[in-house]
Amino acid sequence: MPTSIAFEQAVMTLSPRQWNESGHDMARAVDALEQGKVLFFPHLSFPLTLEEVALLDPQLVDVKRKNISFQPLTHHLKGVASAAKSPAIRQLLTRYYQQSCQLVAAVLPDYQQVLHSPTNTLRLHPITAWRDTTSWRKDDSRLHVDAFPSRPTRGERIMRIFTNINPSGQNRVWRVGEPFPALAQRFLPRLKRYSPLVSWVQHRLGITKTRRSHYDHLMLQLHDSMKADQEYQQHGPQLALEFPPGSSWICFSDQTPHAAMSGQFMLEQTFLLSPASMQDQGRSPLRVLESLAHQPLV
Ligand code: SIN
Ligand code: FE
Repeated sequence: MPTSIAFEQAVMTLSPRQWNESGHDMARAVDALEQGKVLFFPHLSFPLTLEEVALLDPQLVDVKRKNISFQPLTHHLKGVASAAKSPAIRQLLTRYYQQSCQLVAAVLPDYQQVLHSPTNTLRLHPITAWRDTTSWRKDDSRLHVDAFPSRPTRGERIMRIFTNINPSGQNRVWRVGEPFPALAQRFLPRLKRYSPLVSWVQHRLGITKTRRSHYDHLMLQLHDSMKADQEYQQHGPQLALEFPPGSSWICFSDQTPHAAMSGQFMLEQTFLLSPASMQDQGRSPLRVLESLAHQPLV
């Protein structure tokens, strides 16, 4: 039996039904988010046009990729198998970005000016499909925190907004895990040491876009160590969460351990954020790891 986490410890439920609507509990939202909680909007849907519903087809994803991804500021779209569908997908992802910005302004106004580097994805594959075909390291049905292997963030936070757009009633089911300080304490002693030389070589070889910092090394090690630990996956602290179609949720995915267990068809919007722009940067993975390691990591 896994150790259970109480729902209230892991989730804050918020009432908005519109992307530009704030509620009475907004002051607490940013605090809950920075604690690592999931902000859950059970009634915040993203209605699709009839033309967009026709885009809910896994065959539209390039076979070499997991998802379709989009950079709203440059309009760069990647991973679409059929060029004819690109304009409609670009329009959908642009609209999701715009709605996400409205949600941030309404619910997380302190973050409005400081979130940067938006990218978003259209996720069309059933989770079970990639679970069965990928290596353990890419298997997101194992609890993990997000870390980008080729794009070091040097401590920048990864905030993600998600919306279940399943047209036939299927929930997206996640597991979420323990608070980041407990997670870091558990795994830090087992993580491989950082080598600046290896980071330099990886950058020179083009394996990473910039040089991997000590922080990025530890976050990737943490990601891998969590996924590789079967005992932790089965018995570690965790809570199952169900996100029905027509609901949205937000979390810092570099902080909140998460695993996607089932579901199909989702929109996801990513923003980065400097720890210095948080209300309490002491809660960022960078500062938590630095205080445990007793040294600067970037
Ligand atoms: C993940 O971020 O690990 C996957 C989330 C999802 O696709 O539901
Ligand atoms: Fe993830």
